[in-house]
Order: sequence, then structure tokens, then C-alpha cells
Amino acid sequence: MPLIDIRKLNAFYGDFQALFDLDFSIGSGETVAVIGANGAGKSTFLSAILGSLASKNGTVEFDGVDITREHVFSNARAGITLVPEGRRLFRSLNVEENLQIGGMTGREGAWTLDAVYSLFPVLRDLRRHPVSQISGGQQQMVAIGRALISNPRLMLCDEISLGLAPKVIREIYACFGQIRESGVSIILVEQDVARAKDASDRLYCLLEGRFSLTGRSDGFSMDEISDAYFGM
Ligand SMILES: Nc1ncnc2c1ncn2[C@@H]1O[C@H](COP(=O)(O)OP(=O)(O)OP(=O)(O)O)[C@@H](O)[C@H]1O
Ligand SMILES: [Mg+2]
Repeated sequence: MPLIDIRKLNAFYGDFQALFDLDFSIGSGETVAVIGANGAGKSTFLSAILGSLASKNGTVEFDGVDITREHVFSNARAGITLVPEGRRLFRSLNVEENLQIGGMTGREGAWTLDAVYSLFPVLRDLRRHPVSQISGGQQQMVAIGRALISNPRLMLCDEISLGLAPKVIREIYACFGQIRESGVSIILVEQDVARAKDASDRLYCLLEGRFSLTGRSDGFSMDEISDAYFGM
């Protein structure tokens, strides 16, 4: 049984339809990439899973339970966590306080503060620093760490490489192996197609709210993906 099973998902902002009849699944421990251009519907898709989208229809099942009408807080308690686009840290708080906020769902597991500091050692040294005074890459590590400390079963990552230097992106993605080994399922939303292909087991390409390509990430050439991405 898939961890997330989505059937015929449609999403709306008022009269505007953003997602059309999407079918999607992800298994336990699997990493799936969702790629697509600006405005394709990637963040909307994550919001629909997280429970923060006002208007949608279809079904979203999490571990066999229908969560289509559930809200963010109950989904967080059930183990669905978002690493949001733009990181959304609490700028007046320090690194450790931001991380601890992730623990407020009360889910216990292997991802403790110490485990996050082992994954991102630089954060241990910076733990008393306000997040407004650390680099963008370090802020992204805090955002990922905050999600991990909630001990998610499913982690939704929205464009974690946005605005970061290639070297920093490589450093952050290098840590994903360890996160995957801990058994967390991951949905990676990315505009960096090569990175997404490399880091995932399967991929879905969104084009104007519809999936234009789905399958194993190693089963497609960059040209095939590019055609699906741009709608050629
Ligand atoms: N709050 C909103 N109200 C109205 N329309 C919205 C809203 N949020 C998104 N949209 C529209 O829905 C579509 C999908 O937006 P979404 O943010 O999901 O795209 P995206 O793939 O995440 O884009 P990006 O790569 O720029 O983050 C776009 O046409 C966008 O303009
Ligand atoms: Mg987005």
C-alpha cells in the first residue's frame, strides 16, 4: 500500500483551476521529485497534501486513511511536514529555537536535536545565532532540520535549492542520503531538473496543472524531461 495515494485531485483558487485530475502515489521510504516551470502548480500540489488548500476535490489518502478534508495540524501530527518555499524561519529566534519549533508536534523518533546537529554540524556551532545573521544555505539547513525534528513520515520539500550557490546546493543534497536511510518518504519539488532527477527514485513533471510525464527518474533522458517541462 502506498504511503500517499492521490486520485483525481483538482485544486482551485476562486474560479481559477490550478490542478487537473492528478493521480499520484509515493511509497514508504521512497523519494519522488515533482518538477515543473514557474506557475505549473508545484506548491499548490504540496499545499493540497499538507491540508492548507481551501478548495480542492478528489481524494488524498495517507497510510490508508482519507485525509482529503483534514487540516494542517492534524496532518502534522500524523507525520506530514513541509520545508516551505522561502524557508519561512522565525527571524527573531536563534537557530536552536527555530529547530525546537519542529518538535512541537510531539512526534518522537530518531530525529532529535543531536541527530540534526550530526547531519549539519555547522548548525551546532551557530545554535545561539539569530537566523537573520546566518547564510542562506545555513538557513535552508535550519528549515530542513526543523522539519526532521518533527519526525515526519513524509517530508515535502519546496524548492530547497532556490537562490543558493551550486556548492551549497551540493552540500545540502549530499545530506539527503542519510535522511532517506532513516526511512522518511520525500517529495522534492524542484526547478533544477538535473538535481531532481539525480536525487529521486521516480519523477512527475507538472505542466500547467497536469502531469505531462511520470516514471522512474533514471528512465528518461534530459531531452524527454525538457519536452515535458516546456510542453513541446
Ligand atoms: N493564492 C493564490 N491565488 C490565486 N492564484 C494562485 C494562488 N497561488 C497560486 N496561484 C496560481 O496557481 C498556479 C500555480 O501556482 P503555484 O504557486 O502552485 O506554482 P509553482 O509551480 O509552485 O510555481 P513557482 O515555481 O513559481 O513556485 C499559478 O498560475 C498561480 O498564479
Ligand atoms: Mg512554488
